[in-house]
Amino acid sequence: MTKVLIATEKPFAAAAVQGIKGIFDAEGFETILLEKYTEKKQLLDAVANVDAIIIRSDIIDKEVFDAAKNLKIVVRAGAGYDNVDLAEATAHNVCVMNTPGQNANAVAELVIGLLVFNARNRFNGKSGSELMGKKIGILAYGNVGRNVGRIAKGFGMDVYAYDAFISADAIKEAGATPVTSVADLFANCDVVSLHAPATDETKKSINYELLMKMPKNAVVINSARKEIIDEEGILKALTERTDLVYITDIMPGNHEAMLALGERYFSTPKKMGAQTAEANNNAGIAAANQIVGFIKKGEERFRVNK
Ligand code: 3PG
Repeated sequence: MTKVLIATEKPFAAAAVQGIKGIFDAEGFETILLEKYTEKKQLLDAVANVDAIIIRSDIIDKEVFDAAKNLKIVVRAGAGYDNVDLAEATAHNVCVMNTPGQNANAVAELVIGLLVFNARNRFNGKSGSELMGKKIGILAYGNVGRNVGRIAKGFGMDVYAYDAFISADAIKEAGATPVTSVADLFANCDVVSLHAPATDETKKSINYELLMKMPKNAVVINSARKEIIDEEGILKALTERTDLVYITDIMPGNHEAMLALGERYFSTPKKMGAQTAEANNNAGIAAANQIVGFIKKGEERFRVNK
């Protein structure tokens, strides 16, 4: 019998787990649930006999692949797969997939919500500001970036975008005004929203120099990965420029030091962009269907490793 482990340190909504289980039940697959685990040993024990794993930001490294002797496929229910060692997956003959787009609207709604929260002084009653008429620059115009752009337009914001892998024409067609570099985005926009994955090229790329170029009272909002931030660099910029604001859904390593910035810094306690019933359901069900398609028919449409 095919055994599938759902290994989520940060659990899905219960209804999403039921939906996933329903798909596997119908195929005669067994579903095993490991939620809120606190030690890696629990994960290593749980993977021992399984054929497939559904994860979120859970770390899947060499140790996990070594422990999972029957493993054939890992599906990251979500977009970013920097938490999976792809080279080790390939070396162990394991297919890795993601579920692109499935949680994009949830992340985008959180971004806009945090921007309103900031613009209205965290709802403390003091006079704030509006998003209408402000320029928002979207760094990486993929599924999340486009959803942020769509909602921002509804607020009457001017939407700009830069993406290293998407042409200016395609960005225009997808509804934003293209700019020619990351530096231009920071220099021209009142808000910059980060949606780039953590890769060798993007790690620590959001730095002191970029923030120092921003217009007065600018805001940077990060709902992507903390690894793309040069944390010391942006703390320095925010210390020198007392008009700038940093909002993040991924708590930085220097959170305690950032707290000294007062209301110009805000971090959610735990990454929650994709933490909605709808996103859990969309991503979880897509992951389950992709596992069934792979095991039964060898389908590899969303494969991300070689
Ligand atoms: C993603 O890459 O899809 C998001 O960062 C969501 O991550 P999460 O599943 O850990 O909430």
